[in-house]
Amino acid sequence: MKNMELPSYNIKNNMAIFLERSFMMITILETSFKHHSHLTQDFTIFPITEIEQHQIRTENKENFGEVFTPAALCDKMILISKPLPDQFNIDLCCGMGNFTIRMLRYFTNTFPDFNLKSYLENYHWFNELNPENVTVLLDIFKNVQINLLVGPAEKIKHMKCDSNGIFLKGIWHWNGKKWITDVEEPEDFDKFFEY
Ligand SMILES: C[S@@+](CC[C@H](N)C(=O)[O-])C[C@H]1O[C@@H](n2cnc3c(N)ncnc32)[C@H](O)[C@@H]1O
Repeated sequence: MKNMELPSYNIKNNMAIFLERSFMMITILETSFKHHSHLTQDFTIFPITEIEQHQIRTENKENFGEVFTPAALCDKMILISKPLPDQFNIDLCCGMGNFTIRMLRYFTNTFPDFNLKSYLENYHWFNELNPENVTVLLDIFKNVQINLLVGPAEKIKHMKCDSNGIFLKGIWHWNGKKWITDVEEPEDFDKFFEY
């Protein structure tokens, strides 16, 4: 096939479609995240400047060190670290993915050609240990094929990479010895704790 240059109006149209889709997708993700976290803030704003209510689930504070970061603080950290949509990223100890949700809102509001789905599928990885949070995370991001490492962050150095040194895509679990994929039996989830 002849390699033809696309007319600029087509490129603009494609960009507009990606952005419109990204706006739709981030709104769906935020709605689901708010449902699970019981937050009521307006998540379409970036940055959120006022620290309003945030969820602290004290029952998981002792065993998983679980205290969720308020959105306003996530936003401050995002503004300081300046992540980019064409750089690889991993949301370590992600909980329900609140840092990622806020970063996706930042990308959507900031970069006119941001393609949320493509970013999540190709540049982004999550990591979380607590199966309860993993279940919520998978529900929030159910419309996207996320990359997720379920297991201890300290074992990520053993994760398999492709020939370019990039983590393999998909959902992986730490079985106590190595990262495995295609875990079908729910009871395999218990293996997370054998490390
Ligand atoms: C303080 S919460 C932070 C959650 C989220 N990143 C935030 O900022 O709100 C810590 C999270 O790390 C998870 N976690 C604890 N130890 C971990 C480990 N060794 N590897 C991966 N995740 C871990 C907990 O289950 C919890 O969801």
